[in-house]
Amino acid sequence: MERKSWKESASQLQRIVLPEDTNLFNSLYGGRLVEWIDNIASIVAIKHSRRRTVTGSIDSLFFLSSIRMGYIVYLTSRINFTTHSTMEIEVDVESEEGITGERRFTTKAYLTYVAIDEEGKPISVPELLLETDDDRKRFEEASARSAARKVLLKKIRDEIDQR
Ligand SMILES: CC(C)(COP(=O)(O)OP(=O)(O)OC[C@H]1O[C@@H](n2cnc3c(N)ncnc32)[C@H](O)[C@@H]1OP(=O)(O)O)[C@@H](O)C(=O)NCCC(=O)NCCS
Repeated sequence: MERKSWKESASQLQRIVLPEDTNLFNSLYGGRLVEWIDNIASIVAIKHSRRRTVTGSIDSLFFLSSIRMGYIVYLTSRINFTTHSTMEIEVDVESEEGITGERRFTTKAYLTYVAIDEEGKPISVPELLLETDDDRKRFEEASARSAARKVLLKKIRDEIDQR
């Protein structure tokens, strides 16, 4: 199986917050931001695996500050980790006030995508090339999140089976 650098799939997306994207308080609606996050993260998953992929889980999502209408939103995304058929994708979100150019870090998210074949069955993805200390640190941290996610997934599946 080939190994690929995270750089081959890293992606960026920019949006401006329009009235239809806002909540009652003239800030970006959380659900809209989740849609943008899932969109860019799925691009990274597809580019890394060159497979069909589905969102398995949104593992963590922190909204650290709100984003006002008219602000520019920058989403940057990269892959941190793979298993046999899963990929952990990280998304960072910053906002920018268009006139002053003032930027603020607003959101951090980790999502897991599963590569599937034509029947929807999980299939293998390329491993990650770990070239730098930062690559290795991200991989180790994501590995711990993956182990915790598997425990939680098993618990949820067991609970469903007992219904
Ligand atoms: C995700 C999905 C393909 C997994 O299929 P499955 O046959 O149950 O998969 P398995 O139990 O054999 O697990 C395969 C791998 O995926 C992981 N996985 C399975 N379901 C997962 C989930 N919901 N979230 C995160 N990881 C998941 C497993 O831990 C396993 O990891 P590994 O490669 O490290 O061993 C299937 O549950 C599915 O299609 N879910 C719906 C996805 C969807 O509709 N998403 C929203 C729209 S894109």
